[in-house]
Amino acid sequence: MSLDPISQLLADFQAEAAATAASPAEELLRVEALRVRLLGKKGEVTALLRQLGQLSAEERPVFGQRVNTLKEQIGEQLDALRSAAQLAAEQAELEAGWLDPTLSTAAAGALAVNLPARGQKHPITRLLDIVIEHFTGLGFEVASGPEIEDTWHNFDALNIPDNHPARDVWDTFYTTKGEVPRTHTSSVQIRTMLSQKPPIRVISPGKCFRNETIDATHLAAFNQCEGLYVDRGVTLGHLKATLEGWVQRLFGPEVKVRFRPAFYPFVEPGLDLDAQCFLCGGGGHLAGGATCTVCRGKGWLEVIPCGMVHPNVLRNCGIDPDEWSAFAFGMGFDRLVMLQNGIDDLRRLYSGRLDLVRQL
Ligand code: DAH
Repeated sequence: MSLDPISQLLADFQAEAAATAASPAEELLRVEALRVRLLGKKGEVTALLRQLGQLSAEERPVFGQRVNTLKEQIGEQLDALRSAAQLAAEQAELEAGWLDPTLSTAAAGALAVNLPARGQKHPITRLLDIVIEHFTGLGFEVASGPEIEDTWHNFDALNIPDNHPARDVWDTFYTTKGEVPRTHTSSVQIRTMLSQKPPIRVISPGKCFRNETIDATHLAAFNQCEGLYVDRGVTLGHLKATLEGWVQRLFGPEVKVRFRPAFYPFVEPGLDLDAQCFLCGGGGHLAGGATCTVCRGKGWLEVIPCGMVHPNVLRNCGIDPDEWSAFAFGMGFDRLVMLQNGIDDLRRLYSGRLDLVRQL
């Protein structure tokens, strides 16, 4: 029996689809090759449509309809073949990485057993380990606070009253109870000073949330790390030495820092710590003369906002500013990870793609 070209093509395809390649990887390649050969721009199914012109006006819609059905049928079958091959490939990967704990290392080596790949920490977690190790070494403890915070801890107690224009900078989402997803880790300063008597030395890493338009350098959910040191006679000198030491730990002992005045309602004076760019060394240009990709030609990187805790903030926590003084800082954690690893887009850190983690 001679089949018309559509039925012929389907029969040929089905005969071919019934075969399988030697390995799941080859099967995936085979399925993709079939897809291109049949459904590609220059594929066999597309070629059938070109015959439309030779048909009569009555035959044309029927033929067109049948080719479309054929296309769908083949597409669905190829999808199913691909899923099966993918599953088999994953299964094969699992089996290849299967660990027999009863084998000695030598025996495993001799048998060329594929040991499972070693896990790796995410770069944010790695920086977290470093910050904790560094600051606990200086006598700081790790404190935490809730991610959903009341406005008193997040704003008022930090000297940001309801009607103050500074509140707009951090204006955010509110729950129906009037609480906020905390906009900074600074709220933990308040909680710590209310629950502990000075002297206090804490850092507090954690998630924060902002009403942000997301782009390469801004996220609506991100990590910060707060620091607070309250004692008798704490000065700007202590702040400078502590943060300089930290930045040099992070970017290398030669890195220079500078402090610029900045306004944050909860500190007086408020400062921004800039580190000299570790890539271009502060010149703003790379070896060939190109603009530095890390500092974008500025030579300096904004790294840590900080300052001497405002007397109002101490008073709000029942600490007498005539007896005690304090410094505080709050660093954008993800930004530090970006700078440290030369990552150009914050969103990559949260993409869940293992290749990023593996290459760092
Ligand atoms: N909380 C500030 C922010 O998120 C950062 C900050 C600035 C924290 C100065 C501090 C500080 O502790 O002293 O923008």
